[in-house]
Amino acid sequence: MKVVALVPAAGRGVRLGAGMPKALVPVAGESLLVRAVRGLLDSGRVHHVVVAAPADQVEVVRRELAGFDPGSVHVVPGGADRTQSVRLALADVDRVAPGADVVLVHDAARAFTPPEMIADVVDAVLGGAPAVIPVLPVADTIKQVDPGGAVTATVDRSLLRTVQTPQGFRPDVLRAAYDAAGDAATDDAGLVERAGGEVRTVPGHPRALKITTAFDLAVAESVLAAEPIGEPR
Ligand code: C5P
Repeated sequence: MKVVALVPAAGRGVRLGAGMPKALVPVAGESLLVRAVRGLLDSGRVHHVVVAAPADQVEVVRRELAGFDPGSVHVVPGGADRTQSVRLALADVDRVAPGADVVLVHDAARAFTPPEMIADVVDAVLGGAPAVIPVLPVADTIKQVDPGGAVTATVDRSLLRTVQTPQGFRPDVLRAAYDAAGDAATDDAGLVERAGGEVRTVPGHPRALKITTAFDLAVAESVLAAEPIGEPR
């Protein structure tokens, strides 16, 4: 059994405003990227990680990840958007992990994802699901509005879920979805859906939140101070 995780980490982090790529932003002394990669390896399921770095910072990112086994953690130049970064990392899978059984795609921005949740995603793919996403129920009431901001409907939130990463795939399924995809997609499983594939869900976790803004970073820092990573769920 061989599992490879792709980590798109080539974003500029403009919304975070830290003046550096988001993946390199430190939280309590360690970058989001180091935390994300460690979480994957700590799941006990992931053998190889391919990180897509900002194209002009590949060496910086390699240095950042120098503490990991270079036989397990690989860095490739990323692309202009997330879809392209995933595509470039996916192209490296045959070199680093030929014959892989599962490919995960995990945002560096979800650096606090519990390793147990990562294992759940891998196990669901190994159990026969072609594509698997972690999801959470929606806590807020959801309204549909018109372009002027007037409410046109209240949506039944019991059927809605928010989607996290890592998303897990049989490699042939993810490759076919990316081959068929022309443009940028907001999530990888969306490409599988578009190609007519089945996507299953597993329970997500609040700690798998995506760090996008300075507020998210502040939330992550306070959660980390209150409950250090490594504690049971
Ligand atoms: O910007 P956003 O948070 O939606 O990006 C999601 C993930 O995609 C981040 O981990 C970011 O580094 C990555 N990304 C990428 N290549 C880009 C843009 C974003 O790998 N060109």
